[in-house]
Amino acid sequence: MQLLEERIRKDGIVKPGNILKVDSFLNHQMDIPFINELGKEFKRRFADAPITKILTIEASGIGIACLVAQHFNVPVVFAKKAQSLNLDGEMYCTKVQSFTHKRVYDVILSKKFLSAEDHVLIIDDFLANGCALQGLMEIVKESGAVLEGAGIVVEKGFQNGGDSLREQGIRVESLAIVDSMTDDSVSFRKDEWD
Ligand code: G4P
Ligand code: NA
Ligand code: NA
Repeated sequence: MQLLEERIRKDGIVKPGNILKVDSFLNHQMDIPFINELGKEFKRRFADAPITKILTIEASGIGIACLVAQHFNVPVVFAKKAQSLNLDGEMYCTKVQSFTHKRVYDVILSKKFLSAEDHVLIIDDFLANGCALQGLMEIVKESGAVLEGAGIVVEKGFQNGGDSLREQGIRVESLAIVDSMTDDSVSFRKDEWD
């Protein structure tokens, strides 16, 4: 998506370890009219999908998912990260490995808010190794809901999360796919939608 690529080139900052900071407009300070345009684009790409619920994971997915959801007219439900739990059967639960933070955490979602009648669109800010997304997909599977796909703002194409999900047959729509980064440049994979 050209608007997003231009914004990343203008305001994104490349940090050591292949980290792209976009916190001036996407996941710390949030540019609402701009993110609203991203929401419109997700709606365009998933116009044919009968989505009933948008699913994300705390923290930085939530605000983005809310702006996206306005274009789908459906609720947002977000999975919570928990350190330890008392499992009481009321929660879907899975474990997610974070490579960035070098730890494993539990991810939980109340069974009240996702069921076999739902058609789910997963939304998140970043897709790197895909561990967070795999965890959300396990929760969707456990609920019996239909996974319609995943909408990602920034995919790091040089990590294999996105491509391995596509190989599994998951519909992954990333608005920008970064192929490589240096201190002063970011290059993107060609976008079939532009
Ligand atoms: P993965 O889920 O795709 O496997 O990624 P990984 O474990 O490597 O990432 C852990 C966290 O770092 C995730 O956020 C992810 O969104 C974020 N992340 C990964 N690469 C980048 C990057 O280049 N730039 C930025 N800004 N973030 C990146 P989190 O810590 O789990 O959640 P949140 O609380 O920040 O939402
Ligand atoms: Na993040
Ligand atoms: Na995130």
